Amino acid sequence: MRNLEGKYCIVTGAGKGIGKAIAKRFLLEQAAGVAILEWDLELAKATAKELDPTGEKVIAVKCNVADSDMVKAAVDETLAKFGRIDVLINNAGVTRDRIFHKMTDEEWHTVIDINLNGVYNLCKFVVPLMRDQESGAIVNISSTSLLGNPGQANYAATKAALQGFTRTLGKELGRKNVRVNCIAPGHIDTDMMRAIGEEKLNAAIARLPMQRLGDPDEIATVAAFLCTDDSSWVTGQTIMVSGGASCT
Ligand SMILES: NC(=O)c1ccc[n+]([C@@H]2O[C@H](COP(=O)([O-])OP(=O)(O)OC[C@H]3O[C@@H](n4cnc5c(N)ncnc54)[C@H](O)[C@@H]3O)[C@@H](O)[C@H]2O)c1
Repeated sequence: MRNLEGKYCIVTGAGKGIGKAIAKRFLLEQAAGVAILEWDLELAKATAKELDPTGEKVIAVKCNVADSDMVKAAVDETLAKFGRIDVLINNAGVTRDRIFHKMTDEEWHTVIDINLNGVYNLCKFVVPLMRDQESGAIVNISSTSLLGNPGQANYAATKAALQGFTRTLGKELGRKNVRVNCIAPGHIDTDMMRAIGEEKLNAAIARLPMQRLGDPDEIATVAAFLCTDDSSWVTGQTIMVSGGASCT
């Protein structure tokens, strides 16, 4: 496993959950550097230390992806440290679930600002760098909720939007040797998933074809595939990684 040798990577929201698993996987793939862009800096620092006790490869950078100025500063800081950015994983995301007719403006806008505008903000500053160096890989973390999920009108809207965004950037950036893909995870065992409560979780698991939650590492392996030359002819795609849930 050394497919990311020499590559410098950004993973947003990698303090825990899926993002952390991706950062860990990238180190296994011999990435030259991984920047954890997190709004919870203490969490990011603890994760960086856990993944890379020597502090040589992983950096923790404070960043709320919804804040354009903070994103610019975080990308600049990463660039100053690493010298280039080869891989961008737009993973940071939140839920504010509520049936639509009761959903507040705040719940709507928070999810749009982080899950969709956050991806825009990162791409705004990273895409020009990748265009100039004529190489790069971007993976946006969507969700099978893009198919529609009661209580998640805000979340599903952002995750479906990422699919169109990914297709468009894939088409625009292909000639610059920059590939852009999307992963739509199903039910993955993280704090976000467990926040729905044990009863709802057990009911959801019972409906899943594989009768279990996915592990964050099972998303990380697909992210690694999409960022290495193993997927050199894959761009603009959304890969459902859901243990078959998106087939039902
Ligand atoms: N867990 C699932 O079942 C599941 C399923 C489909 C898609 N996803 C998506 O995967 C991604 C990761 O989810 P997870 O389950 O690991 O969630 P999580 O809540 O366990 O972790 C999310 C991380 O993102 C960080 N974060 C949140 N908002 C941020 C912001 N504005 N700026 C910077 N960092 C921020 C949090 O601090 C946290 O470390 C999200 O985009 C989520 O929508 C998760």
